[in-house]
Amino acid sequence: MNVTLTVNGEQHILAIEPRVTLLDALREHLGLVGSKKGCDHGQCGACTVLIDGQRVYSCLTLAVMQEGKEIVTIEGLAKGDTLHPVQVAFIDNDGFQCGYCTPGQICASVALIEEVKRGCASALTSDLNSPLELAQLTEIEIKERLSGNLCRCSAYNGIVAAVQQVVGQQPPSPLAAVIS
Ligand code: FES
Ligand code: FES
Repeated sequence: MNVTLTVNGEQHILAIEPRVTLLDALREHLGLVGSKKGCDHGQCGACTVLIDGQRVYSCLTLAVMQEGKEIVTIEGLAKGDTLHPVQVAFIDNDGFQCGYCTPGQICASVALIEEVKRGCASALTSDLNSPLELAQLTEIEIKERLSGNLCRCSAYNGIVAAVQQVVGQQPPSPLAAVIS
């Protein structure tokens, strides 16, 4: 069937089978290979993209379900040569090693920050009537809210520090763990 997808602001008409996942549509049909296939069944988060501003595992949703929605992948976050602030923060804080999980981690981090701004709760939220603000985003909160994205290189300290930097907190020095 013909499916029209809007990805990173551009419309694409694809002739695909209804069973094609969004991840496969992006990678195999549009050549957008930034979104990674780690597990292909919703366990690792490497395939995370943004759909209408929400983070979604693209391996768990069908491309045909995404007509009329705004899909943003890691390739769509930068504006020309200007990286998204979360991308800059990942570089500044050594938020990756091999980089395989990184596109998903960055998309999830972008969504995480917007979720906090909207007052979304996490599993750690004790009072649903007092939503967290960005300034209150603790290390443990960031870890909880990114717990759907695994990193086999275990670059978690740098990933958390990157989010802290973007929300205006002072992240620990990347060298601190090495020195201590
Ligand atoms: S590839 Fe989608 S969650 Fe692992
Ligand atoms: S940087 Fe290698 S899996 Fe995360």
